[in-house]
Amino acid sequence: MAQATIGVDIGAGEIKMVTNSNGVIQKAACFAMPRDLIKDGAIQSDAAMAAHLKEGGRKNRMKGRDVAAAVPRGSMYVHRLTVPLMTAEQLELNLPYEFRDYLTQDKSHYFFDYYIVTPPKAEDKTMDIMAAVVRKEVVQRYGRILNRAGYRLRTFIPEELAYGNLIRSHGKRHPEEAGKDYCIIDLGHESTRVHLFRGDTIEVTRVIDTGGKDIDLVIGKVLGVDPYEARMLKHENKDDVLSLPECAVIYSAIAVEIMRAINFYGFNYPETDLEKAYLCGGGAKVGLLIRQIREMISPQLDGIVQLMPDSARDIIDPFLYPVAVGLTLQ
Ligand SMILES: Nc1ncnc2c1ncn2[C@@H]1O[C@H](COP(=O)(O)OP(=O)(O)O)[C@@H](O)[C@H]1O
Ligand SMILES: [Mg+2]
Repeated sequence: MAQATIGVDIGAGEIKMVTNSNGVIQKAACFAMPRDLIKDGAIQSDAAMAAHLKEGGRKNRMKGRDVAAAVPRGSMYVHRLTVPLMTAEQLELNLPYEFRDYLTQDKSHYFFDYYIVTPPKAEDKTMDIMAAVVRKEVVQRYGRILNRAGYRLRTFIPEELAYGNLIRSHGKRHPEEAGKDYCIIDLGHESTRVHLFRGDTIEVTRVIDTGGKDIDLVIGKVLGVDPYEARMLKHENKDDVLSLPECAVIYSAIAVEIMRAINFYGFNYPETDLEKAYLCGGGAKVGLLIRQIREMISPQLDGIVQLMPDSARDIIDPFLYPVAVGLTLQ
């Protein structure tokens, strides 16, 4: 029997882990990030992160060593390109050139990768590829942290590709939906992300700087506690803190920006017909936020569990795990 793959999504607020054994999602766990382990999106201590991952895996009985992890946002650059028809070898030589505006160090400091989006037809002179670049240092660092935690880093891809995997496997189960446009709204901590896909291919991601951290900030201000403490109170919805008028201001700011992102997409791709938007992320636990979003946007809100394998339906709060699950489908 093949070894299980563990999907690990290290978020700014929480770590999400799932195990996938032969395509069956077996376990899922979500645990809070300790105070100050992540600051401004960066891991502050490799040793502490390794210990935390190890402990989290052990406590939640995540069996397996092979890990598929998400590349931290901002460390990888993914770009869809049209290039002249060429061999794989030529393409590998050319990718650093295609990314020249992005590289801040010599090309030897980066890994490049690509896949072909639409296989070229005989008469085609160009090909449509999705290419990515990541700093070697980031890959090596995550590899080291996971090693220290007792794992092996096998797959390292950005979250957009993990969502793409979900959509692709959903499309295989529902061929009538395979080529549609998909909108995924991730209510995260540092930011809110609106991802727009054409079929399983990412078209654009709009990052909205407002997210869970801003709810923590206002709760902290009102109650006179630090943002970390405020986050814990938010998770319990202690004394109904989520209904504070100060929080409502944040909800509507997030909802308005989501609406703008979706409208802008519709404007750029007039033929689009987004019937649904799939919600995920810890913010999806906040009913008042969901209500604001629902009132503001025209696509209907749906749970992202609809895009996940059937075995994920038994997971509690499946909307926390689309990235972790999608990572294991690579
Ligand atoms: N029960 C809950 N109630 C309210 N907010 C929650 C709850 N659970 C998680 N969250 C929030 O959801 C967000 C999850 O962020 P996370 O996915 O870890 O970050 P990111 O994807 O931006 O790196 C955090 O702000 C967290 O506090
Ligand atoms: Mg996340």
